[in-house]
Amino acid sequence: MKEDFFKYQAQTSNHPLAIEISHANESFVYDTNGKSYLDFIAGVSANTLGHNHPKISQAIKEQVDKHTHVMVYGEFIQQPQVNLTKLLAQNLPKPLETVYLTNSGTEATEGALKLAKRYTGRHEIIATKNSYHGNTQGAMSVCGAEQQNSAFRPLIPGIKFIKFNNAADLHKITLKTAAVILETIQGGAGFIEPENNYLKKVKEKCDEVGALLILDEIQTGIGRTGTLFGFENYNVIPHIIIAGKGLGGGMPIGAFIASNKIMSCLKNHPKLGHITTFGGHPVIAAASNATLTELLNSNLIKETLYKEKLIRKFLIHPLITEVRGKGLMLAVIVKTEEIASKVILRCLDKGLLLFWLLFEGKAIRITPPLTISNNEITKGCTIILETLNEILTES
Ligand SMILES: Cc1ncc(COP(=O)(O)O)c(C=O)c1O
Repeated sequence: MKEDFFKYQAQTSNHPLAIEISHANESFVYDTNGKSYLDFIAGVSANTLGHNHPKISQAIKEQVDKHTHVMVYGEFIQQPQVNLTKLLAQNLPKPLETVYLTNSGTEATEGALKLAKRYTGRHEIIATKNSYHGNTQGAMSVCGAEQQNSAFRPLIPGIKFIKFNNAADLHKITLKTAAVILETIQGGAGFIEPENNYLKKVKEKCDEVGALLILDEIQTGIGRTGTLFGFENYNVIPHIIIAGKGLGGGMPIGAFIASNKIMSCLKNHPKLGHITTFGGHPVIAAASNATLTELLNSNLIKETLYKEKLIRKFLIHPLITEVRGKGLMLAVIVKTEEIASKVILRCLDKGLLLFWLLFEGKAIRITPPLTISNNEITKGCTIILETLNEILTES
């Protein structure tokens, strides 16, 4: 399998981990040699309920037996889409009531940016340094990492960057601004939480000048930070939210969500303001419904805060400078980038799956499935501490 993987599948780095996967179940992924990996990553925050969850699998199978794709968005009313959009709207504060389902997070970012331009009639977008919102060219244009963007310029014009958490930059949001796009907690930058009512201040400034606040909830959403969506922790209701990743419970999905008034402008001038063939695919929507329903009917969302405390209690070590983030979206910051890489690779050998963050080399990502047990947390943290001890003794 490995030979064909390197021969036929496009590679985007020179050193992929290239572990050959056999199957995955609950909090574990298994390779073709029978080795198990305790999953502290959850497919990069996507497998909300772990792997192979029986309710998600059942929902997928039932929907496949009824119908798969039937027609592009809108021609046919499909029960899984209706159920999912209704469930989302019922669990979001007003006026976030209308949902456009997409294929991926980056497509949801595209939709949200287009919607803000259409609604305001303006084209300037303000984003933050070190942000990540996806990798298609519109989404990339609002990513604040020039090392990734420069090779692909020109990207879309009219984008300005401000510093996350810096209230002094807010004067850059003006009557020309269509939207400010922020991650509720900056992900790739190192799981940086908003401080001092930052999000509320941005929203107030947006309201003052008639701009829209778009919050990217692709990582912070779907229960990971102790509330269904991360913004609920920070005393703010944005104009538009973007969701993805964990919303599909391991299946590919995205969504942008706004008030009916804002969303309605996709209908005219031009009509078909956003087009997608597969967005809201019935099988994916059924999986997403099962994920959300299970989350909302369990204590899993609240338990993320207890699990966070447990992880923080364990991860105290001379090589760790800080643990950032909220709930089960945590970044362990160690003294050097070299230590972070050593920990990630050695833990992998020991059967614990960890990962890097995009723009913070000293960070070790911990984003397990929300279903991870306390015993599994103890087991994983013990492996991390053992590995840090080894590295400390060697130095
Ligand atoms: C905050 C954030 N926004 C957008 C995206 C893009 O989502 P997708 O990879 O589904 O296009 C990601 C993915 O990592 C993300 O973390």
